[in-house]
Amino acid sequence: MSGSPSELPMVLLDALMPTSRRLVVNRRGSMVWEMDSHLGHYAVKLGYPIEATADWPAQPWTALAPAREGAVLHRLGLDDSAYGEWEHGWWNFQPWHEGPDLYRLWEPCRRRGSSVAPHASVALGCVEALAELHAKGWAHGDVQPAHFIIGPERTHLIDLALARGGLVPKGYDFPFRGCLVHYEAPEIALSVLTTGEAEPTQEADIYALGATLLISATGWRAVAYPDDAPRAVQREAVANGKRRPVKAPGELGEVIDAMLSHAPGDRPTLHEVRKALS
Ligand SMILES: Nc1ncnc2c1ncn2[C@@H]1O[C@H](COP(=O)(O)OP(=O)(O)OP(=O)(O)O)[C@@H](O)[C@H]1O
Ligand SMILES: [Mg+2]
Repeated sequence: MSGSPSELPMVLLDALMPTSRRLVVNRRGSMVWEMDSHLGHYAVKLGYPIEATADWPAQPWTALAPAREGAVLHRLGLDDSAYGEWEHGWWNFQPWHEGPDLYRLWEPCRRRGSSVAPHASVALGCVEALAELHAKGWAHGDVQPAHFIIGPERTHLIDLALARGGLVPKGYDFPFRGCLVHYEAPEIALSVLTTGEAEPTQEADIYALGATLLISATGWRAVAYPDDAPRAVQREAVANGKRRPVKAPGELGEVIDAMLSHAPGDRPTLHEVRKALS
């Protein structure tokens, strides 16, 4: 499927009447547009099903993801968002957050021989964004570097399509089948390996935040496995806790190590993380 503007649903164009639009990504069953209109500045997400291939089963749930996220955003009280159906699945729009994501912002820290240290204040911004969601009783389920947008005033945690914590209408709910393995907590990886599904938790989010900070600051994954390892092999390495001996500099390194603890109960709370970084 192409991401040509002609594919945008009329109902969406009628609702937003964009004065400009830019395709941000179109991959894995999801298209994201940045749109400007007299109503505001929006991220528009369109879901469509992923067809089966030789090495990939069909994934019809990607068509539902924008509706699920839209319902979560409403539950969280984000009224400046909406969602609806289009011919290939569901769409949503939500406020666009300006700024680089964490991975891009910390690129200078990852350069070979770099003397640029990752700022604790940036890490704290990510902690605050996740803490805000947790305080409302939700777990994110897909914490990763690209999902923290570091804005001029605050950091935003985006992509709530997999979040758990409140009621989501049955019609577009779907089970959690794991996220990017680099950020999966051992108990999530084990559950996905053994049952095909898992339950996102706040403790698993804290592990994912540790893995997110580590990879953004150093370029290294928390767990050792070959780049081309099949997903099940990656999950086995994560479930077995094969940690890499990599550390971010200073206080950040210590607290990341604790967040990456194998047992959920050994991980610090976000309150403790905040204290360690302040
Ligand atoms: N509200 C937003 N503000 C700014 N940028 C956004 C917003 N929503 C999405 N984006 C941009 O679009 C990208 C993809 O968005 P998102 O992660 O929500 O979609 P996705 O379909 O889950 O993609 P992926 O499978 O890569 O996670 C983000 O990494 C970000 O660059
Ligand atoms: Mg995403």
